[in-house]
Amino acid sequence: MQKGPVHEALKPLCWLIGKWKSIKTEGSYPTIQPFTYRDEIKFESIGQPILNYSSTTWHPEKGNPMHLESGFLRIKPGTNEIAFMVSHNFGLTTLEEGCVCNNELTCKSTQISRMSFVKDPSVVAIERSFKLIEGGNLEIELLMETVRTPLTRHLRAVYEKV
Ligand code: HEM
Repeated sequence: MQKGPVHEALKPLCWLIGKWKSIKTEGSYPTIQPFTYRDEIKFESIGQPILNYSSTTWHPEKGNPMHLESGFLRIKPGTNEIAFMVSHNFGLTTLEEGCVCNNELTCKSTQISRMSFVKDPSVVAIERSFKLIEGGNLEIELLMETVRTPLTRHLRAVYEKV
């Protein structure tokens, strides 16, 4: 596919563009055993004022695929307002909105839809941040609220650029 130059509107998001590989991951939640995983994230520009997004995670020892996400990160041209539309392989789609400032993006879910037979407990809200840290690495944090558990961290991970 023709990629073309990065769209002018994406300037505040340029630091996110590329492929990122996890170097440290921590998964947790009050209702489950702590876990780790491998993750590869891609934010790709194909010339539109949008970044195409994907995240593929694998079990650290067994190597089987786990949580997958795919979607689009949009920015309102000329502003730092962003919208993140994500489809999750376990039967959820999330619309998240927020802002990007000084190499940090934060967003909160504004709408969540789920398929009729999604596994319990239902997710009520998510909040996440993407932050460029020392050494040009990327840090991601994700908090989640379910019908059973108030907003609590589910993931924290550090990535290096591939
Ligand atoms: C558990 C949602 C991302 C791995 C869960 C649970 C929910 C959930 C609702 C059940 C919690 C409970 O029983 O109280 C989400 C959402 C995510 C996300 C909304 C992203 C927005 C990830 C990622 C991984 C992951 C990236 C990486 C592999 C797990 C594991 C469990 C779990 C291992 C425990 C076992 C299980 O119930 O399958 N997650 N998750 N999650 N999540 Fe996530």
